[in-house]
Amino acid sequence: MKKLMAILISLVALTSTAWAVPYKAELKIASATALEHTYNVGAQYFMKLVEERTGGRIKFKLYPDGQLGKGERELLESVQQGTIDMYIGSTGPLGGFSQSIQILDIPFIFRDYAHVDKVLDGPIGASLIADLQKVQMKGLAFWENGFRNLTNSKRIVRTPSDAKGLKIRTMENPVHILAWKSAGVNATPMAWGEVYGALQQGVIDGEENPVAVILQMKIYEVQKYLSLTQHVYSPAILIMSLKRWNQIPADDQAIILKAAQEGAVYQRNLGRANEQKMLAELEKHSMVVTRDVDKAAWVAAMKPAFDTFAGQFGKDKIEAILNTK
Ligand code: PAF
Repeated sequence: MKKLMAILISLVALTSTAWAVPYKAELKIASATALEHTYNVGAQYFMKLVEERTGGRIKFKLYPDGQLGKGERELLESVQQGTIDMYIGSTGPLGGFSQSIQILDIPFIFRDYAHVDKVLDGPIGASLIADLQKVQMKGLAFWENGFRNLTNSKRIVRTPSDAKGLKIRTMENPVHILAWKSAGVNATPMAWGEVYGALQQGVIDGEENPVAVILQMKIYEVQKYLSLTQHVYSPAILIMSLKRWNQIPADDQAIILKAAQEGAVYQRNLGRANEQKMLAELEKHSMVVTRDVDKAAWVAAMKPAFDTFAGQFGKDKIEAILNTK
């Protein structure tokens, strides 16, 4: 009798495994940047890895260029609500959802790319990513937007006093806004989808972004001057709605996580390896590139913002970033 029961139990287990429906999904990934921009090139690399490794059970549809929302804040809101499955974009507006991540936006907190990688791929980055679960988002990996630079339509800018009074679009991020106010510019937060038109119509004089964005979003068409201020490092992040993440079986989650990390290495390198080439292209498009900015003067001008945020985030946390080697 016992033997018969054991045979029956294993038969039931066998048939239910055979009947288990393999997980299948088509996930929507959204970004605010043009298809050619590194976010979307990286996203396509990531999508291919996951599609191959799941035998096509998990597929994606990419919606670049703000097709699903006029700026990154709006896209993040949709991810949080679960109406978009995934986001690839900067962490700029993410502080409005999970405040701790704003520590990364402090001006001049990062020295160089090696420093960035150590912090974002180490325990500090992991803890900032873990915090996102509290706001219904699953952070998969830090990708890259890059070091931000000032562009404007009025004049060559080397020092903060050259920029005084310019009306500059900032991200919807209080750290950026305060940093720019401290530097004496008229800081104007705005969703990315509105920036090109506002520059074109002269509603604002300038904006600030990494070189890849300035080239691939054709900012050179509406801005003459680029100053390599590198004032803030802007991380990007691949995020999934937590609701969607929790529906995915653990072995597929592992595939997605690994592909997101491999995608990070690939995508970060796209911008870094081509930075000089992109600058040369911008010059071909008649942008006047100022390389010899007065870095010390920018650091001093944005220091009040640095000090304010030392109070908010905790000196120890800021020092942990500064001291990461
Ligand atoms: O300036 C911004 O809003 C962002 O840097 C951008 C261009 C959307 C890329 O993440």
